[in-house]
Amino acid sequence: MHSRRQLVAGALVGARTVELKSANEKLRAEIAKRKEIETELVQAQKMEAVGRLAGGVAHDFNNILTAIMGYSELILADATSNSTLHGNAEEIFKSAQRAAELTRRLLAFSRRQILELKVVNLGNLVNDLLKMLRHMISENVEPITINTADLWLVNVDPHQIEQVILNLAINAHDAMPKGGKLTIETANIVLQDADRAVTHEGVSPGGYVVLSVSDTGVGMTPEVQERLFEPFFTTKEFGKGTGLGLATCYGIIKQSGGHIAVSSTPGQGSTFRVYLPRVTAVDAQLARQRQAQIQPGGAETILLVEDESSLRHLATKILCNLGYNVLAAENGVEALQVIEQRREQKVNLLLTDVVMPKLGGRELADQLHAKRPDVKVLFTSGWTGDAIVHHGILDEGVAFLAKPYTPDVLARKVREVLDATA
Ligand SMILES: Nc1ncnc2c1ncn2[C@@H]1O[C@H](COP(=O)(O)OP(=O)(O)OP(=O)(O)O)[C@@H](O)[C@H]1O
Ligand SMILES: [Mg+2]
Repeated sequence: MHSRRQLVAGALVGARTVELKSANEKLRAEIAKRKEIETELVQAQKMEAVGRLAGGVAHDFNNILTAIMGYSELILADATSNSTLHGNAEEIFKSAQRAAELTRRLLAFSRRQILELKVVNLGNLVNDLLKMLRHMISENVEPITINTADLWLVNVDPHQIEQVILNLAINAHDAMPKGGKLTIETANIVLQDADRAVTHEGVSPGGYVVLSVSDTGVGMTPEVQERLFEPFFTTKEFGKGTGLGLATCYGIIKQSGGHIAVSSTPGQGSTFRVYLPRVTAVDAQLARQRQAQIQPGGAETILLVEDESSLRHLATKILCNLGYNVLAAENGVEALQVIEQRREQKVNLLLTDVVMPKLGGRELADQLHAKRPDVKVLFTSGWTGDAIVHHGILDEGVAFLAKPYTPDVLARKVREVLDATA
């Protein structure tokens, strides 16, 4: 028989052990969580670094390719159409085009593309794509789509998101050489702060539309899952894959304010989930109104500074056709001279390249502002380095137009900056 005292002491020790145990567990959980955050941070920094590298290479590469394509086009124009020279030049041109496509994907990864945002229903987008997809995949792969009826809207570049879906679907197809099911599903989801476990990243809490692409294929080991989104990571044999598919998906989704996550078991298939922030009906209405309000064209004076001559001529032509008065300069120093010579002339907008020899776009803008503080500025570049963009985010109050741009995008952006209140 235990005395009452012994019983009380025993109970106390028991309670203390339980307490210690739970404290221990809490500590362990805390350490595990920190480790996870640390790993995410290292991973994010790695992607950022690779992105910078890729973007830098892509920029220089684009300039070289412009020259290769330009000169091979000149040869094509000069050579008689069925000569060997013509045939050779055609091959050069085609190869350069393929290289341009590669650089385009690299730029997408480094999030240096322009997104043309539209409010869309992802379910409709998926349905439209399905027809095309059927032609691209083998007969033993069965595509299935599951759409939620009241799917929320998202504000994305539909063309870019189509690229994402196609990349994911083709990967899924490749993972099922013996056939299987390819399921594309769209649904609404509300993510909380605590849902970093879902996306392996910090998320802004709120409503998202989740697009998932699942296959019943070979699946992936944890090692493959870890490196999946790195550019040039591929397990496909030489010549079959470039390893840029998921890297571009990653870039596009990040640039759209979303997340991408993967879950997979070797031998049992994989699921990729893309989370895109929802827009409310009011946001959608506002976005449409803003778009509709912008009437391209005007009569203001624009100082255009661009060192690449073909682009300078092109932009001058587009802007003149829209009614603007254009003063063109080859570089920053020349731009300042133009301004100096025309003291009476009012200049409304400086449209300048960022990376230029002698005087960069940012410095030019600063020097111009010292003389004419009311000139508005629009920067343009294929790759901005660090001059105006930090961690993929524009410095505050800076207007930016990414190259390559279409005439329509140039027109809208110029009007938008001219109309913006300071
Ligand atoms: N659904 C999937 N199932 C199994 N493995 C996959 C799946 N999706 C991607 N992977 C793995 O991730 C790697 C990288 O994919 P990614 O799309 O970036 O490049 P790729 O398909 O190899 O080449 P590319 O898309 O440029 O033609 C693939 O090589 C493959 O190992
Ligand atoms: Mg791929």
